[in-house]
Parts: sequence; structure tokens; C-alpha cells
Amino acid sequence: MQNHRWLRTPDGTAPRISFGADYNPDQWPREVWDDDVRLMKKAGVDVVSVAIFSWAKLQPNADTWDFAWLDELIDLMHDNGIGVDLATATASPPPWLTMAHPEVLPVTAEGNTLSQGARQHWRPTSPVFRRHALTLVEKLAERYGSHPGIVAWHVNNELGCHNAYDYSDDAARAFRAWLAARYDTIEGLNHAWGTAFWSQAYGSFEEVLPPRLAASFPNPTQQLDFLRFSSDALTDHLVAEREILTRITPDIPVTTNFMIVGDTRHADYAAMAREIDFVSNDHYVTQDRDELAFSAAITSGVARHRPWFLMEHSTSAVNWQPVNRPKRSGELVRDSLTHVAHGADAVCYFQWRQSEAGAEKYHSAMVPHGGEDTRLFRDVVGLGGILQGLGDVVGSDREPAEVAILFDWHSWWGSELDSHPTELLRYRREALEWWTALVDAGVRVDVVPTDADLAGYRMVVAPVLYSVPAALRDRLEAYATGGGHLVTTYFSGIVDENDHVWLGGYPGAFRELLGVRVEEFRPLYEGEGVALSNGASGSVWSEPVDVVADDVEILASYEHDELGAAVTRRPVGSGSAAYVSTRLGVVGLARLVPELLAGAGVAPELPEPLRGSVELASRRGAAGRFDFYINRTDEPVSLDGVAGAFLHGSAELAARGVAVVRA
Ligand code: GAL
Repeated sequence: MQNHRWLRTPDGTAPRISFGADYNPDQWPREVWDDDVRLMKKAGVDVVSVAIFSWAKLQPNADTWDFAWLDELIDLMHDNGIGVDLATATASPPPWLTMAHPEVLPVTAEGNTLSQGARQHWRPTSPVFRRHALTLVEKLAERYGSHPGIVAWHVNNELGCHNAYDYSDDAARAFRAWLAARYDTIEGLNHAWGTAFWSQAYGSFEEVLPPRLAASFPNPTQQLDFLRFSSDALTDHLVAEREILTRITPDIPVTTNFMIVGDTRHADYAAMAREIDFVSNDHYVTQDRDELAFSAAITSGVARHRPWFLMEHSTSAVNWQPVNRPKRSGELVRDSLTHVAHGADAVCYFQWRQSEAGAEKYHSAMVPHGGEDTRLFRDVVGLGGILQGLGDVVGSDREPAEVAILFDWHSWWGSELDSHPTELLRYRREALEWWTALVDAGVRVDVVPTDADLAGYRMVVAPVLYSVPAALRDRLEAYATGGGHLVTTYFSGIVDENDHVWLGGYPGAFRELLGVRVEEFRPLYEGEGVALSNGASGSVWSEPVDVVADDVEILASYEHDELGAAVTRRPVGSGSAAYVSTRLGVVGLARLVPELLAGAGVAPELPEPLRGSVELASRRGAAGRFDFYINRTDEPVSLDGVAGAFLHGSAELAARGVAVVRA
């Protein structure tokens, strides 16, 4: 995303927040398409993603192509003012391909080959798959590249959703090439992987394998490199498709839909985002109240705060959680507008019409099984109207916050490897807890990758920043000494990029900056707590923290004989560096965050009575600043005193409601 390029829009149309869905007309008889168009118009739909899983229909066998139905469909959409985000259709290879070439099927760490019959059963590194996929991409680009109805290309679908980790021989070959490029010599690899341990030294790259099922813990750096390689292999596939598209259709922007949601962690999306024209994301709600906003903020961070495309979410229930509950009243609008608040300029669903057959027939859609005369479809029509009223927001960036959370896929992968002090540590949960605590305190928060420019932030929180190469350590040191307020936590600054421990005591990379030293970690058992002097309680982790610099201030201590300081802060240069040595959780962080914010000179933007119940998120563009007040509770909240013109909602903010105010 060197240069942000948004959807192509027909000249002369007013800017609007695009609204639509994955559209799978190939699952339906032709006559249904006309009804689809009628209902799309009723709902204000202006964009659909088409052909995501249509490979078998477009190419029924190796030598036969059938584009007639897609020609007709794209014309139909275009004639009715509905743009097509055209998928490259490579997500799910057809049975003829996998029967003829079983060598494209992924292999698990245990050596099991995944069968056809579901979807995404292809190896990211298979040359055979790549050749067939690129032929299809080329055909589509040549056929539709000049069609005015195509607003964007949609590469594949959720790259790596089911096939991120492939341990096949193809993967082994590609992994070796990736390692040779990274380390140059086998000595370089042996050093990085620490193969002097357990007699693992390699004589050549040919001896190296992916971390297949082994007798004990596979080499940690091998595991980490395999996670990095697997992410890069998906990105490599994306780039291969993109290169064909941009060669043949340079005017059509290219995207692919990310999965920044919950514990999905197979791709470094900060890196992948560099390869597309605009970021798209798919998000499905979990039971955690703030997970949606947090994911949307991460998405905005990897999109460098430019507008992004919400490619999929659900109107109501999904079909893949253990128990799938419908959304409650208000949630459909609130969920969508929360994404818009964090930078989405398109609001789309999986999917347009609920399937009558197949594995997703119990997944909600814009048009449910009950049809047009349903509460759900009326809500969809209502949302379409709301989005049309927010045209001024379009094109605006996320208004920078004063506080940022660093989010790093490499630390996520590294901190949760096996053979560690505890299995209970959860990287993303720690980051999300900081998010919730900061939002509760009434501030807006950005979530940014580690290469983001931090200069504008008064406070940067780096939770469990486990993997810290020297360059990142230096940047964070310069940030703090230059006037920023850095906060980091337990299990941060522990290793370098090779997963080698920074020696001399923990938290190695940050030890000098923080003025503390830890000799031994003391993780806690499940359910075990440790009390702190400020009334908070720690879980998961504790440490005997030695204060080794005179100017370290102890903000909280452990109420435990063998432990001392728990939370420290030290003035450094014109800024400060704080350390939190245990998991405080949202409740414990609530006792600490106001003090940290005050020390960093950050004043809450939300009026006191709204803190805790309301989240504020803001965007700014040519038409001014837009404040989104998101009711996180199930009770109405009064926004009396909020200044500005209400574009949506009112000062009586409904339970689960959102108000949009032009400030
Ligand atoms: C996504 C996928 C869609 C659909 C959806 C259901 O992972 O891209 O095709 O399966 O989930 O929630």
C-alpha cells in the first residue's frame, strides 16, 4: 500500500460509504438474480464481491471455460449501478484439478494430506497450483479488465484461512529457499537456530525440514521462521496474482481480505498490507465486548490510518462457533458503525442471500431464509439508509490519537511458542486488555505496527513485546528519551530476531532504559493471583524485580515476601519508561492507567460521566472532524453536553447505539 488507491467509482456519483456483500449468484437459478437486484436497490447496495468460490463454474474441466454467466451477471450489476469487486476465484480449486494433481493438497505437521471436498485445499507453495491459478487470473483480467463495472480486484479469499501451515515437500523446498535468502550460509542458519543444542547442526540447506511432528519441542527458531515463512508464502501468492492483474489492468486497484479478528494470527498483516492498494478486513464478533473495536483499530493501523474496506462481517449469527446466537437489537448497526468509526469506508457482509444448501446455510446473510419480510432485512435496509447519510465521512482518515498500542505479529508468534515459562500467556489478550482499560479511561487509542512513526504519540504501550531486534530497541529508547512515555510489560525485550535471549538479566533489551533487572521469571498457576500494594491483583506472571537505578519510581509493589516492585516508572531524557511485571487485567489496569496517562500528559477526551460506557473514535477529512460515540453497554446513555451536529443518532444514545457527530 505504497499509494493508497480506493475503489474505482463512476464519474459524477457522490462519495458514499459502500454497502454490500459477497454475492454468490452461481448458487441460484437465473430468475433469482432479478429479485436480488430489486432487493439490493431497496437496501442501497452499491458493491458486491463476486466469483470468490466460482472456479469450478468458470473452468469446469482443464480445457473448458465458461464465462457467459459471469458476463451476464457483471453487466446486470453494472446496469443497475452496483459495482463489482471481482474475485480472482482461486480460493477453492475444483475437484478435477485436485484429482489430476493431488500434489497440490496441503499436508499437516503430522503428515496427513487434506482432502478436497471443503475449500482452500491448496499448498501456498505448490508450483502446479500456482500455474493453474495464474492462468485463471489472467483469463479474468483479460476478459473483464476493460469492463467499467469492475471497481476492484479481490485476490483469492482470506489467504491462509485454512491452509496457512503446509508441511509438504513443496513447502520444504520453498522453506529452504526462504532460509537460504535469509541466512545466506548454513553456518548463518546454524547460528540463528542455535543448533549446537540437541545435536541439531545442519550440514546443508538440503537437510532442513519444516517443523514436522517431532519427538519433543521442535527448535524454537525453526518454528518461528516457519511461521514467518508461512506468512511470506501467502504474501508471495498474493503478489503473484497481483502482478498479473496490475500488468493487464493497471487502473483497477487490488485488494485481498485480511482476517484481523480474534486469535487468527497466521499472517503478518502489517507486511501484507504493503502489497495491496487498499486494506480489506473480515471480522466476526466474539463474546468480548471490545474485540471488534480493537480489531478495527489494528486494521486501521496496518492501513496507515487511510480508509479501509470491511469486506465481511455478519448481519446476525454465524455457523462456525460452538453455539451461534443471532445479534441482538441494535448490534447490526453498532457493529458496522464501529468499523466505520475506525476507518472503514465500505461495509460489506458475508453474504448477500443466505444459502439454501452447503456448509453455510445456517450463516446469516443480508437476505435471510425468511426473505424480504423479516426484521433482519428491514434492519439491513435501515443500515443502508444510515450509511448513505454519512457521505461526508468518506475519504477521511482516522484522527490520530495521543496514545498508541504497539501490535507486533512477531512478538505474538514468539511469545506463545512452546517450551516457555508458561503456557498461559496470551499476547493478544494482554494487548486487548490495555485497549479496554485505556478506552475505559476515556481516551482514544491507535494500534500500530512496530515500524509506525511514534513521534506524535505522548504514550506508547508495548504489551508483551517479546521479540526486540536491536534496531527496535534503539527506536523505542529514542522515543522515550526524546519525550515519549513508553510503557512495557512482563515478557518484553526478552529475545532478538533469532529468538536468542538478551543476556545479563531480564528484560534484556529494555533493562537499562527501565532501570530494573529480573533474575528469574515467576509465572503463576492457573487461577493463582498475586496481590499488589495498589489494590490490584496480578495473574499469569510475576517477577522479583530489582530496581537498579536511583531514579526509578515504584508505582506498585507485590504484597509477597519474595517479590518487591511490581510496577515501575523511570524518567529518561525528556520522557519516561514504565514497566508492568504482571498481568493486571482490565480491573487492575483501571487502577494504573489514569496515573500513567496523567504522567504522559494525556487528558481524557470523553466527559467523565461517559467513561467506561462509551467509546469515542474520530475521523478527520476534508469535511471536518467526525466523532463516533459508541455505546458499549446495554443501557441508554445521555450525550448531553457533547458539542457538534448529530449526523446519526441523538443525545439520547440508545443501548448498543452509535451517534455520529460532526465536531
Ligand atoms: C469467511 C469466509 C467466507 C465465509 C465466512 C463465514 O471466513 O471468507 O467465505 O465462509 O467466513 O463467516
